Amino acid sequence: MRHPAIVLMGFIVAIGLIARLVAVAVEETKPPPGASLGQRIYYRYCIDCHGRSGRGSCRATLFLIRPGDLTDPARMRASSDTYLHELIKHGGAPLGKPGMPGFGSHLDDSQIDAVIAYVRTLSR
Ligand code: HEC
Repeated sequence: MRHPAIVLMGFIVAIGLIARLVAVAVEETKPPPGASLGQRIYYRYCIDCHGRSGRGSCRATLFLIRPGDLTDPARMRASSDTYLHELIKHGGAPLGKPGMPGFGSHLDDSQIDAVIAYVRTLSR
C-alpha cells in the first residue's frame, strides 16, 4: 500500500483542479469588454444553455439539455427574425421547441432584436 500522505496530497491536488474547473466555468459568463447590447444579453440570459460559442454549454450537456447548434448557418438562415422573436419572447413551447424558455418578462422587444442580431453573428 502507498504512503497515506501521498494519497492525501493527490486528493488535495484533485480538489484544487476541480475548483479551478468550476471557476473557469463560472467566469465564462462574463462578456468581453466593449460587448454590444445583444452580446451582453446573450451572456446574461443564454449562455447557460447555449454556451459562449452557440454550440451548447457543458452545463447543458451535463443536464441532458439539447439546445441545438446556433452556429449552423443553414439552420439560422431558415429561421426568420419574426420566428426568432416569437421563440425568444414566448418560449419554444408554442412553436414545438419545448426546451427553450421564454424571456418576454425579462427582455423588451428592442432587447430581443439586439440578441437576435448577436445570435446571427455566431453562424458567420
Ligand atoms: C434553459 C436553457 C436555455 C436558455 C437559458 C436559452 N435557451 Fe434557447 N434553446 C434551448 C433549448 C433546449 C432549445 C432547443 C429546443 C427544442 O428543440 O425543443 C433552444 C433553442 C433555441 C434556438 C433555436 C430554435 C430553432 O428553431 O432551432 C434559438 C435561436 C435559441 N434557443 C435562442 C436563445 C436565446 C437568444 C436565448 C437567450 C435570450 C436562449 N436561447 C436561452 C434552451 C435554452
